Amino acid sequence: MAGVSLHNLRKTFVDPQSRKEVTAVNDLNLDIRDGEFLVLVGPSGCGKTTALRMIAGLEEITSGEIRIGDRVVNDVPPRDRNIAMVFQNYALYPHMSVYENMAFGLKLRMLPGLAWQLTHGAEAKQIKADIDSRIRGVAETLGIDHLLDRKPKALSGGQRQRVALGRAIVREPQVFLMDEPLSNLDAKLREQTRADLIKLHRRLGVTTIYVTHDQIEAMTMGQRIVVMKDGVLQQCDTPDVLYHHPANMFVAGFLGMPSMNFVRSAKVVKNGAKPLLEMEHFRLHLPEDRTEALAAHIGKEVIVGIRPEDIYDRGNAPARVASQENAARLKVEVIEPLGSESTLYLTAGTQTLIARIDAETAAKEEALLDVLMDGEKAHVFDPDTEQTLV
Ligand SMILES: Nc1ncnc2c1ncn2[C@@H]1O[C@H](COP(=O)(O)OP(=O)(O)OP(=O)(O)O)[C@@H](O)[C@H]1O
Ligand SMILES: [Mg+2]
Repeated sequence: MAGVSLHNLRKTFVDPQSRKEVTAVNDLNLDIRDGEFLVLVGPSGCGKTTALRMIAGLEEITSGEIRIGDRVVNDVPPRDRNIAMVFQNYALYPHMSVYENMAFGLKLRMLPGLAWQLTHGAEAKQIKADIDSRIRGVAETLGIDHLLDRKPKALSGGQRQRVALGRAIVREPQVFLMDEPLSNLDAKLREQTRADLIKLHRRLGVTTIYVTHDQIEAMTMGQRIVVMKDGVLQQCDTPDVLYHHPANMFVAGFLGMPSMNFVRSAKVVKNGAKPLLEMEHFRLHLPEDRTEALAAHIGKEVIVGIRPEDIYDRGNAPARVASQENAARLKVEVIEPLGSESTLYLTAGTQTLIARIDAETAAKEEALLDVLMDGEKAHVFDPDTEQTLV
């Protein structure tokens, strides 16, 4: 096994129509540890697939360096990089059985070319036996051992996806590269395969770079997550740090369902020892330890971020939040019940806030609701750079 490091990795394309240069990946620096499960996430077009294809050797790099283990692989052809890739549109060979599909790459690797057909000696027998036990072991792990004799057309989408994964796993690569491998599956199967992949990674411990635009996959699967935007790495850290300490407004807004609320034109005011954020319709008292970070912004405008779960129905707020006295009276526009919780669309003047609160709320559509906000969890951003201040 091996780690992967990317140093100033860059890819530019020339748009065939406008003839303008597009920077798909912009000086990406990243150290993926040996055995790590790293997720690359970001909106469509941010450069995820391009980055992965460069690591695989399927896309020529414009500049920079890629190392797999200790080896610089910039000029190493894909087949010699010891990686296995699983794509969204995995192609199985339709005329081959599941077993043959899984064996195909292995045979080529272990007995290249004609040797496979011509060798009948003890060595070839041994290799065939090794291939066989590998395939059966992996098929069992993936729960497809009863399908080995079937052709792909007789499989469901989820089963096909497992075969594609199996084909990659039997190669025992140093690194797995996966590009949205679950996106063709329905929601339930996706959830299950997600859990299977996590288990599999725990067992095999192979370094995995997993691309998705699904933040739930990113948050649940990644040991670390890289958030990208327009080819630029925004932040790379554990799911917990990204969620609670996003580096900027993009990361803050990208992770979380529903997204973080942003209140613009908030003003930082000094209020004794603690900072206070004044907005048009409400104010937020922040804890004292945020004072220093905001010292240079007193009297200036900032953007405030509040996650939907940090807004409480006054009647149900925990004591910690109640004692902060960050109250507001907001109009309830829409209530979406989700079982144990409800999503509330609230307004104050032109400001909209989304709250996720306990379903046992007294809130009524078209009525006013008294809410409390958790100032300790509030995020503050610089309106010019959109970087996090606190
Ligand atoms: N062969 C190409 N020629 C020109 N531009 C390209 C080419 N391949 C990708 N691009 C551009 O590079 C950028 C990044 O594309 P990429 O496929 O890496 O995005 P992505 O993050 O994988 O998106 P998605 O989530 O939609 O798969 C896009 O602007 C895309 O249009
Ligand atoms: Mg892509």
